[in-house]
Amino acid sequence: MMENHIPACSFVILGATGDLAARKLMPALFELHLMGALGPKTRIVGVSRQELSNEVFRERMEEALKEHSPKSFDEARWQELAPRLAFVQGNYDDPATYRALSGVLSRFDEEGAGGNRVFYLATPPSVFSAIVGGLQAAGLNGSKGWTRVVIEKPFGHDLKSAQRLNGLLNSAFDEEQVYRIDHYLGKETAQNIAVLRFANALFEPNWNSHYIDHVQITVAESMGIEDRASFYEEAGVLRDIIQNHVLQLATLVATEAPARYDARSVRDEKVKVLRAMRCARPEDTVKGQYAASGGMKGYLEEDGVHPRSRQGTYLAVEFSVENWRWAGVPFYVRSGKRLAKKASEIVLGFKTPPHVPFGQTVKPNALVLRLQPNEGISLRFNAKVPGGGLRIEQTSLDFTYDRGFSRANPDAYETLLLDVMRGDATLFMRADEIEAQWEMVAPLLDAWEEMTLLPYAAGSWGPKEADSFLAQAGRAWQLPG
Ligand code: BG6
Repeated sequence: MMENHIPACSFVILGATGDLAARKLMPALFELHLMGALGPKTRIVGVSRQELSNEVFRERMEEALKEHSPKSFDEARWQELAPRLAFVQGNYDDPATYRALSGVLSRFDEEGAGGNRVFYLATPPSVFSAIVGGLQAAGLNGSKGWTRVVIEKPFGHDLKSAQRLNGLLNSAFDEEQVYRIDHYLGKETAQNIAVLRFANALFEPNWNSHYIDHVQITVAESMGIEDRASFYEEAGVLRDIIQNHVLQLATLVATEAPARYDARSVRDEKVKVLRAMRCARPEDTVKGQYAASGGMKGYLEEDGVHPRSRQGTYLAVEFSVENWRWAGVPFYVRSGKRLAKKASEIVLGFKTPPHVPFGQTVKPNALVLRLQPNEGISLRFNAKVPGGGLRIEQTSLDFTYDRGFSRANPDAYETLLLDVMRGDATLFMRADEIEAQWEMVAPLLDAWEEMTLLPYAAGSWGPKEADSFLAQAGRAWQLPG
């Protein structure tokens, strides 16, 4: 058994025949089984409207593993796990579904799951309310062990709807039972931001407006919206990526050191800094939409997209953080679909030295935190080029996870599911945190429809206006490496 061994539980996936269960949840659970983290008494229960027998559900999950996690699939290890999977069919608004689920869970409790339960809502948000009500009415919101509920994004579509959802959840569960997922927080490099800052003496003294000129955050994707038009037409890049993943990264960069690294202290600090964040005026942002290019469809040609849709698939915007540490340091963030490559990274651009005695200009230092691909950290600094004379060029100190550590980075969902079963909510969002995020982007949401929409070629780095946006401030986007 590994050090991460966790108490036995019943892990219930509501929406078990959906995409998330197949692509992320089942592969993560299987990986935890391979690591020995799932005890032999832990059970996985799928719930869905589809009529499936236990056997057919197991076959579906086996297919999902073979498709989405082919390198990890191991027939013998799957045969150990498969009998621990069960399926409950039912509509989410039908009390009979929860009675049937309750029966299955009681049986598993007796077999050793000990009354510990996770309810993972991997369904569209439209049925969250029915599920929470159904679980509560069946008395499944508590048990003789622990009960936890996990909620996927999108968590509401604005401040009011998020408050309503929080109200609903908190009417059935204690806040400590609620785990709101943002999978970016499970990424190793995101977790490492706190360690880099607070377990080293080197970085933190420079981590402020005295030394940092600006911060850049890029979440770029090369893929388009795939088959998610109905979701994306509602969400756009602002709700899909900026309001959650990008804001979380900005928060990790900007937060003060917590006194302790636990769920309460970390989230207290995050909420504090989120409340200090402001976004630039909507007219100072760049909103774009990808257009057909290089054999790739434009957004308007994607199946299910309204032919005159004004939905934004790209956004570049400036944030400020109004506190002593960050006053005057712009946070430039951008995200888009169908960009030149898939890359998520954070760049801290430092100020230039106050005086350079070499008779030449030098590039400012930069600290690059790469979330993906090639996860790692690079520190760019100036050095003398070997040879006669004194010529200065920028070079870098590079750390990559694959060279630095022998163990491969786990998928974010593996980390997060393990944390749910261990009862560690540090990497999950608290009710007030999610509300602060919606509050922060509210001015952009209000202006979203009216913002100028700029086309950009699929496969490019977005509208060229995003470059002039930084150039006006004498800065430039760093090309993700
Ligand atoms: C999801 C978004 O939250 O994050 C998707 O809904 C996006 O649109 C995905 O593709 C990106 O995640 P990652 O881990 O691939 O960067």
